[in-house]
Amino acid sequence: MRPEPWLWLLLLLCCPGAAAPPPDSLSQLAPPQNPKIHLYNAERVLSWESSPLNNGTRPVVYRVQFKYTTGNWHNVTVKSIGVNCTQITATECNFTTASPLKGFPLHFNVSLRVRAELGKFTSAWVTVPWFQHYRNVTVGPPKNISVSPGKNSLILRLSSPFDIDTTMATFWYYVHYWEEKGIQQVKGPVRSNSILLDDLKPSSVYCLQVKAHLVWTIPNITRPGHLSNSSCYKTTADDSTKVQQVALICLGVLSLLLVLAGACRFLFLKYRGLVKYWFHTPPSIPPQIEEYLKDPDQPILEALDKDSSPKDDTWDSVSIVSFSEKEQENVLQTL
Ligand SMILES: *[C@@H]1O[C@H](CO)[C@@H](O)[C@H](O)[C@H]1NC(C)=O
Ligand SMILES: *[C@@H]1O[C@H](CO)[C@@H](O)[C@H](O)[C@H]1NC(C)=O
Ligand SMILES: *[C@@H]1O[C@H](CO)[C@@H](O)[C@H](O)[C@H]1NC(C)=O
Ligand SMILES: *[C@@H]1O[C@H](CO)[C@@H](O)[C@H](O)[C@H]1NC(C)=O
Ligand SMILES: *[C@@H]1O[C@H](CO)[C@@H](O)[C@H](O)[C@H]1NC(C)=O
Ligand SMILES: *[C@@H]1O[C@H](CO)[C@@H](O)[C@H](O)[C@H]1NC(C)=O
Ligand SMILES: *[C@@H]1O[C@H](CO)[C@@H](O)[C@H](O)[C@H]1NC(C)=O
Ligand SMILES: *[C@@H]1O[C@H](CO)[C@@H](O)[C@H](O)[C@H]1NC(C)=O
Ligand SMILES: *[C@@H]1O[C@H](CO)[C@@H](O)[C@H](O)[C@H]1NC(C)=O
Repeated sequence: MRPEPWLWLLLLLCCPGAAAPPPDSLSQLAPPQNPKIHLYNAERVLSWESSPLNNGTRPVVYRVQFKYTTGNWHNVTVKSIGVNCTQITATECNFTTASPLKGFPLHFNVSLRVRAELGKFTSAWVTVPWFQHYRNVTVGPPKNISVSPGKNSLILRLSSPFDIDTTMATFWYYVHYWEEKGIQQVKGPVRSNSILLDDLKPSSVYCLQVKAHLVWTIPNITRPGHLSNSSCYKTTADDSTKVQQVALICLGVLSLLLVLAGACRFLFLKYRGLVKYWFHTPPSIPPQIEEYLKDPDQPILEALDKDSSPKDDTWDSVSIVSFSEKEQENVLQTL
């Protein structure tokens, strides 16, 4: 049984799609998934995933377009932006340029969108949120950090995390530093690429980490940066410790000399005979003279006679004794 013609008319009026041909050309191509923009230092990379609905047997290509705040969408080509992201098979578009003056200006408000294409078929567009590089970037740690230890100080030299247009934005540096097991201190903000940490203890180990904050001047927006890995340095000795060191060295030399002298004396005492043999008897005062010197009242001759009497020569000794007795008598007589 055929439906009534008025029923067909009603169907066409209320649901036009029901009577139209199936929209296979669009529904067959699914849009890319999870688009995201990666902004790290100078890196700007848009990436996405291919839809599993677009069968792997068919080579889908992608088209990326960009626009600024007010304006139309533009294809991403070598001519327009320096990179070809038109009908590419890769699932990313790398906008990173060597110079901050090429590619998207870092202060521009940029919107991006991407779609899949296959022949004359196209998917719907997918967009990422708008961004301004200076506003949305993730700032890495400063580069080329070099530290020269000074007297009671450390001098840091560093490069900015990436190149910026210095008429619009600046980097402010902060140094976190601490003595081993000490309290952390922060120096900053410093705008110079050379930073002095002073009032440090001499001959001490200090560890430090550095970070850069990107300050976008006109909207006054600050992007805090990531800290560098910590590294440690030893300050040099100052003058007073140098004096101490010199004193210590002198003391060391002196004690070494004392030890040497002691050793010499010990060896001398131990090998006295040997030493005497080598050097013969050292010159000494004859014992008689010595005696005289001890008691100068004693007549020199007597002293000589007394002491120089050899035991075996008895005759000499006897005559001398008698002589001396006589002399004593004479002395008594005179008194
Ligand atoms: C992908 O293609 C195969 C045949 O080539 C088909 O069997 C499958 O259903 C397709 N999958 C999707 C998600 O379209
Ligand atoms: C950037 O542009 C988008 C639209 O393209 C707008 O919604 C947004 O407010 C703009 N952001 C700024 C900071 O101007
Ligand atoms: C982008 O390129 C396609 C050809 O690849 C062209 O048909 C289209 O008009 C271009 N769009 C813009 C906004 O230039
Ligand atoms: C862009 O790259 C794709 C794939 O690499 C290539 O097919 C296409 O011709 C290129 N377009 C231009 C304008 O160079
Ligand atoms: C993008 O390009 C830059 C410079 O050419 C490169 O250093 C970076 O690794 C690239 N990033 C990706 C995700 O390919
Ligand atoms: C950039 O930052 C603004 C707010 O500061 C935010 O609305 C926007 O979604 C961010 N863009 C991206 C891509 O994260
Ligand atoms: C780091 O130093 C190297 C060589 O000293 C130099 O080539 C490079 O450009 C420096 N990096 C930055 C970001 O200035
Ligand atoms: C920028 O903002 C900070 C707070 O985020 C404020 O302390 C500073 O005074 C502002 N600078 C200018 C120039 O407005
Ligand atoms: C910092 O340390 C991590 C792990 O400790 C290492 O993977 C990374 O390469 C280091 N970065 C630098 C710049 O040395």
